[in-house]
Amino acid sequence: MPGTDEAAKAITAAAVDSFRDTPDPRLRALLQGLVRHLHAYVRELRPTIEEWEYAVEYLTAVGQKCDPTRQEFILLSDVLGVSMLVETVNEQGGGTESTVLGPFHVVESPKREGGDAIDLMGAGEPCVVSLRVTSADGSPLAGASVDVWQCSADGFYDVQQPGIQPLGNGRGLFRTDDEGRVWFRTVVPSHYPIPTDGPVGVLLDATRRHPYRPAHIHFIVEADGHRPLTTHIFVADGPYLDSDAVFAVKESLVADFARVDEADRAREYRVSAPFRLAEFDIVVQPETNKDAG
Ligand code: BEZ
Ligand code: FE
Repeated sequence: MPGTDEAAKAITAAAVDSFRDTPDPRLRALLQGLVRHLHAYVRELRPTIEEWEYAVEYLTAVGQKCDPTRQEFILLSDVLGVSMLVETVNEQGGGTESTVLGPFHVVESPKREGGDAIDLMGAGEPCVVSLRVTSADGSPLAGASVDVWQCSADGFYDVQQPGIQPLGNGRGLFRTDDEGRVWFRTVVPSHYPIPTDGPVGVLLDATRRHPYRPAHIHFIVEADGHRPLTTHIFVADGPYLDSDAVFAVKESLVADFARVDEADRAREYRVSAPFRLAEFDIVVQPETNKDAG
């Protein structure tokens, strides 16, 4: 029965069944689901042999583009909307919303003290970011770690510009103070194109999609007894907020980067006026909520 629906279904059933003895039930479910959905895709769209070979070559090229500071697979997952979907189905609700990790969290952030500058270049609009980390009940979380990374005012991460930006530019690992606060000095990040010099760029080009992300600053917040949070804040008055190449904008994460002109406020924050000030509250969920409905 070559080529019939029956033959196709028999192959799917056999492939699903081949995982029946997997001892870990979650691994078994994930693999059997993967086979079912992948086979349904093939049965629906009937790729030609040449198309399937192209797909395999494409994924091979994605892997070959990866190195310790370049993660093309994350990028592919991002532009397909899968990274954001995984974030969203794992969202517990109640706290600050999460968004994608992205491919640039690839070097350890240097430890910094509250008030430090994460910008080591001095080029761009001076900016102060002031965060307050609380638990779901509003109590401040002292000693929480806040890992920060952002691109430069020109739209490049440090790892994209070796020899131009020092490693660690735009990055910092902070701890919140007794009131759950942390602040740092930086420059306003730019919107930027995701890397298009690899297979993901080929995909965007072939499908006439633009590669831009709206300006943002990344955070990973970790506090004892709480679920870790991976998120960004987005610069409210920048472009591409409504067409992010990786579908990662959530309205609650769009922050006002207000212009401040007063010299005494600038002095207070050790920057020059005018500067931009982003104040943002981050709420993390207690670990005990993890398995709640
Ligand atoms: C980022 O924000 O760093 C990023 C996220 C997804 C794809 C590319 C970059
Ligand atoms: Fe980014």
